[in-house]
Amino acid sequence: MASFVIRNEKPGDEEAIFILTQTAFETMPYSDGSEGFIVNRLRADGDLAYSLVAIAGQDAGEAIIGHVAFSPVTVGSSEGWFGLGPISVAPNMQRKGVGKALIAQGLDRLRAAGGKGCVLVGDPGYYARHGFVSNGKLTYADIDQAFIQYIAFTDDEPEGEIHYAAAFGEAG
Ligand SMILES: CC(C)(COP(=O)(O)OP(=O)(O)OC[C@H]1O[C@@H](n2cnc3c(N)ncnc32)[C@H](O)[C@@H]1OP(=O)(O)O)[C@@H](O)C(=O)NCCC(=O)NCCS
Repeated sequence: MASFVIRNEKPGDEEAIFILTQTAFETMPYSDGSEGFIVNRLRADGDLAYSLVAIAGQDAGEAIIGHVAFSPVTVGSSEGWFGLGPISVAPNMQRKGVGKALIAQGLDRLRAAGGKGCVLVGDPGYYARHGFVSNGKLTYADIDQAFIQYIAFTDDEPEGEIHYAAAFGEAG
């Protein structure tokens, strides 16, 4: 088990988060190389509602080894939802529970802030482990519905098109 702590992003973390994000997504077949820029634009637009970093222990130089962004989304006509992503863990630190901890702590913050829940577009094989489900009622551009998942903090079942912050581009 890796030794790391999770904290909110703070001033000075921006460049390390950008490099981490670009590096983590670099070899992913679904990446267009935009993810680090999306995080920067979310921040610039005031849409980076929650930005958490994972910091390796002292023996690893207290480097930023993981990051997750949450931004406001609307689901159908419903507000109060957040979108998870991008999420990145340094390639040499993956499969040690860093991603799991970032997601769990992020969801705790959204829940504590009174959010309705969280949506994402991603691999169900990974996100189902964190309680995300697909109900077949959410749409995002022309993405296969199985990849559009959510976790609800109330009895509200999300339905309709997801609209992400402007940083995500036209489809948002
Ligand atoms: C996805 C990512 C954030 C996960 O971070 P992580 O710290 O490695 O995740 P965890 O350690 O919490 O969980 C790893 C487990 O999930 C599994 N897993 C990771 N991605 C998976 C996937 N797409 N489908 C199924 N399982 C997956 C791993 O096999 C591992 O399982 P194991 O421990 O039983 O072997 C990381 O792999 C990453 O940065 N990837 C590149 C960027 C990316 O693709 N981001 C997500 C886009 S939707």
